[in-house]
Amino acid sequence: MKHIALITGASSGIGREFARQISAAYPSLDEIWVLARSVPRLQKLEEELQGRRLKILPLDLSRDTELKALEKTLKEEHPCIRILVNSAGCGKSGLIEEQHWIDAVRMLDVNCRALTAVTMICLPYLKKGSRIIQADSGSAFLPQPGFAVYAASKAYVLSFDQALGAELKNRGIPVTSVCPGPVDTEFFRNGGITLSPWKRLFLAKPEKVVKKALFDAEAGKDLSIYGCSVRLVRLAAKLLPRKLLLGIMRRIFM
Ligand SMILES: NC(=O)c1ccc[n+]([C@@H]2O[C@H](COP(=O)([O-])OP(=O)(O)OC[C@H]3O[C@@H](n4cnc5c(N)ncnc54)[C@H](OP(=O)(O)O)[C@@H]3O)[C@@H](O)[C@H]2O)c1
Repeated sequence: MKHIALITGASSGIGREFARQISAAYPSLDEIWVLARSVPRLQKLEEELQGRRLKILPLDLSRDTELKALEKTLKEEHPCIRILVNSAGCGKSGLIEEQHWIDAVRMLDVNCRALTAVTMICLPYLKKGSRIIQADSGSAFLPQPGFAVYAASKAYVLSFDQALGAELKNRGIPVTSVCPGPVDTEFFRNGGITLSPWKRLFLAKPEKVVKKALFDAEAGKDLSIYGCSVRLVRLAAKLLPRKLLLGIMRRIFM
């Protein structure tokens, strides 16, 4: 049986960095399966990681037919998934009443629906010691006016991960939610988001976020937080009354 890592969102940003670092850090893996819509970008990654067997799965994870295609491929090949990374995601900012519902629902489709489906499809192929790593966000810790649907989608991921981690404890499979602040990837450009000077101040390198995430996943931690800004947000979300927090968020983000 071949041992693999399966990484969604591998064509760009954090997911691509996971592919690079997993390729370097886990030479015993037989294959790395990389999923995204952009085939040229996945091929470029394959060229970069020469010598490692990459399996390119060009899938739009917002479509059920393509999720079923993943399910079928796994059934046929029956690998052991040692590391599952769900990094596919997108975000669009703006006031709820000024956004189009299609953009909002697309975020939920990729950030929540696809992540849930891919995780569930992969579960039968994980074994004791396998790792699940989910790209979550510091936005998971509190509602965010001006980025409401995205933050709510990430709160879903955190809740899902924590319950899944509890369910998988007996199987010896830790689930790590990776919750960074802003990371220097194409995420903001893709979502048409202008980064505020405040957020720019805390912009992290994907290399560092991923290095910490892999370290934390190996240690079996349920949370991987890179950067002091997110730690502060999490602490504030725990200590301050919600009403006060939302008032502060309104002033910062609206
Ligand atoms: N960058 C940040 O500041 C930041 C902070 C916290 C959390 N995160 C989270 O980290 C994850 C990765 O973000 P990133 O910064 O690496 O963004 P990115 O550079 O825009 O990468 C997003 C990835 O998701 C894939 N993707 C998007 N829609 C898809 C779909 N329908 N089907 C399949 N793949 C799809 C994209 O591939 P294709 O376009 O080729 O399909 C791409 O590989 C996301 O979940 C994001 O919410 C990011």
